Amino acid sequence: MFFLPALGTLTFFATASAYVWPSPQLDALEALRFDQTGFSVLSTTLSTFVKPCALFVFDGSVGTTSGRSNAADWIRTAYHDMATHNSTDGTGGLDASIRFPAELARAENIGSGFTNTFGIVFAVTNRYVSMADSIALGSLIAIENCGGPEIAFRGGRVDAGEANAPGVPTPEQALNSHVASFARQGFTQTEMIGLVACGHTFGGVQHNFFPNIVNVLNDPNDTEDVAHFDSTFVTFDNTVATEYISGTTKSPLVVGFNATTNSDSRIFGSDNNATMRSFANSPDLFASTCADLYARMIDTVPSGVQLTDVITPLPVKPAAVKLVLDGNTLQLFGLVRLWNTTTDPARTVSVVWHDHNQGTRSNALSFAGVSSSTGGKYNATWYRFNSTFSNTPLFLDPAAGVTSLSFVVNGQLEDQGGLGFAIQDGFMFSETSCSFGLPVAGRIDVAVRNGVNLTRLYLEAISRDSVQRIVVTEIDIPRPAQPVAANSAYSLWSMNLTDQSLSFNIGAEIDGVKYSTTDELSFTSFPPCPE
Ligand code: HEM
Ligand SMILES: *[C@@H]1O[C@H](CO)[C@@H](O)[C@H](O)[C@H]1NC(C)=O
Ligand SMILES: *[C@@H]1O[C@H](CO)[C@@H](O)[C@H](O)[C@H]1NC(C)=O
Ligand SMILES: *[C@@H]1O[C@H](CO)[C@@H](O)[C@H](O)[C@H]1NC(C)=O
Ligand SMILES: *[C@@H]1O[C@H](CO)[C@@H](O)[C@H](O)[C@H]1NC(C)=O
Ligand SMILES: *[C@@H]1O[C@H](CO)[C@@H](O)[C@H](O)[C@H]1NC(C)=O
Ligand SMILES: *[C@@H]1O[C@H](CO)[C@@H](O)[C@H](O)[C@H]1NC(C)=O
Ligand SMILES: *[C@@H]1O[C@H](CO)[C@@H](O)[C@H](O)[C@H]1NC(C)=O
Ligand SMILES: *[C@@H]1O[C@H](CO)[C@@H](O)[C@H](O)[C@H]1NC(C)=O
Ligand SMILES: *[C@@H]1O[C@H](CO)[C@@H](O)[C@H](O)[C@H]1NC(C)=O
Repeated sequence: MFFLPALGTLTFFATASAYVWPSPQLDALEALRFDQTGFSVLSTTLSTFVKPCALFVFDGSVGTTSGRSNAADWIRTAYHDMATHNSTDGTGGLDASIRFPAELARAENIGSGFTNTFGIVFAVTNRYVSMADSIALGSLIAIENCGGPEIAFRGGRVDAGEANAPGVPTPEQALNSHVASFARQGFTQTEMIGLVACGHTFGGVQHNFFPNIVNVLNDPNDTEDVAHFDSTFVTFDNTVATEYISGTTKSPLVVGFNATTNSDSRIFGSDNNATMRSFANSPDLFASTCADLYARMIDTVPSGVQLTDVITPLPVKPAAVKLVLDGNTLQLFGLVRLWNTTTDPARTVSVVWHDHNQGTRSNALSFAGVSSSTGGKYNATWYRFNSTFSNTPLFLDPAAGVTSLSFVVNGQLEDQGGLGFAIQDGFMFSETSCSFGLPVAGRIDVAVRNGVNLTRLYLEAISRDSVQRIVVTEIDIPRPAQPVAANSAYSLWSMNLTDQSLSFNIGAEIDGVKYSTTDELSFTSFPPCPE
């Protein structure tokens, strides 16, 4: 993708509109949140692991006979990660601490759902989307795509460096312990009833881990012996409440054979069934209550963590924008997404680019695909800056360069309310970068625009620390002793690197502001260096 000012340098936007493209973190979170199925620039989308809702990837079955579902795993993982929160001292919360063996080993976290989920969390996490954000999003996407309401999503959760204190409620505890536990987590008794019902509209209790609650079932359609909370256990709906109120529930935490562990019975009945009755009477009330409570649940984070505003989709969003210098040509790759639109052969879309000479050029875009979100409630259409057939860029004159983009959709100008979509062409990857045989992995060449006040150029090496958090390390590219001209407008800065497994973005400081490219590079993608 492209050149984005690093977060924190955007202070002048803070008082204006909340989200202006480009913003590296928001662009990445927005994509994972809203580009759920169909066409996507993301290599891994979360809904792949949720849809169809009966999917359980860990036994390889779709339309599963295991009795389990990924959707249920995501939601339980999110709750157990969050439930360590202490609202008095601000410790714990949704911070991915559940990945630590110290937490997983606790009786309160028995079950295989957490490690299952984390395999996927690791795959979608990147430098802008933390593991905790991925957990929150995975569970939200599960609810939204399996019959549930739309849930407000904020990003910016920070991954814990160590396990939190214990504190997840367990079924044998008394009602007053549960009330106290939810109060510590930040929820009233009524909210506790709601949150448990919202969670327990999915999944159930497994015999393997809870033999004192569930017996062997001998059901070929439920090979993992899961006694479900309601009869629609892969769907968000108020059946959990209607079956409870009508007395037809088979939930193992309501009518289980051991009264001690019938915690949902005690919780649901704790206000004489008033809350559960209201849910049973109104699917809409259940959905809206769950949307509110679930948003609060995933926003429960350790004090000091600053979440973003609620992320709403950009109506017109450039994506995978990238500049590459190829000899005497500046290549501009990219796509644009038109939110909440469907395929329309009559629609005309063009990209307009503004250059350093106050010049303007435009090109008609070609249709690329359709994506879908929120269980099909929203679709979006995508257009490429140039050809449909391959990833063909626009070919720009390097001397003129590019300062910003806008789009014209059916004759209407789309330019972020006059701001335009800013493009940084002060530095970019050069096609002359190449790979050697060992021991030197390769040479990275970066083209720097002549006359730009670029004070530092560096690689942003992306790696994981000892507790799997993504860390970005800056590796300076030295300013060449003698300028090396790439063409009349750009010079090359180069560096050899020995670490062939390195994956990185390119960063630069221009007029004191840090910018990053957003496409992740590695030497494996470079052609061999000429002999
Ligand atoms: C007093 C509070 C709670 C207790 C005692 C409790 C207890 C349990 C137990 C014993 C299981 C079975 C787990 C297994 O067999 O692997 C379970 C499953 C589940 N819980 Fe809870 N829970 C509580 C609150 C919540 C909340 C607040 C949520 C989410 C908002 C939630 C979401 C789930 C989900 C989705 C499952 C199904 C997991 C699956 O089928 O893989 N629970 N719960
Ligand atoms: C929550 O934090 C407060 C203040 O540090 C402490 O007094 C209390 O014991 C904590 N609660 C739990 C359940 O650990
Ligand atoms: C298992 O599910 C299939 C398909 O829903 C159904 O036809 C069959 O009767 C079920 N078997 C049992 C033992 O419930
Ligand atoms: C009921 O559950 C409690 C708590 O897990 C356990 O101590 C007790 O042995 C169980 N009783 C039976 C009959 O399984
Ligand atoms: C709640 O409703 C259930 C199902 O109708 C019933 O068995 C239970 O006694 C009720 N509890 C209270 C406290 O009213
Ligand atoms: C999405 O598009 C439909 C059809 O054009 C429109 O009715 C609806 O209001 C739009 N929704 C949003 C949230 O913009
Ligand atoms: C989005 O596309 C899907 C699949 O083509 C379709 O079922 C759905 O109705 C569309 N939604 C809207 C709002 O157009
Ligand atoms: C689009 O790509 C074609 C090559 O496939 C190229 O000839 C054309 O100049 C490109 N369009 C623009 C506006 O750069
Ligand atoms: C980079 O490595 C190549 C191949 O080993 C070598 O020829 C070249 O001099 C090196 N360049 C620098 C700047 O170290
Ligand atoms: C270049 O940027 C640096 C850092 O903001 C600044 O201190 C310096 O004055 C700038 N130089 C010019 C020539 O603008």
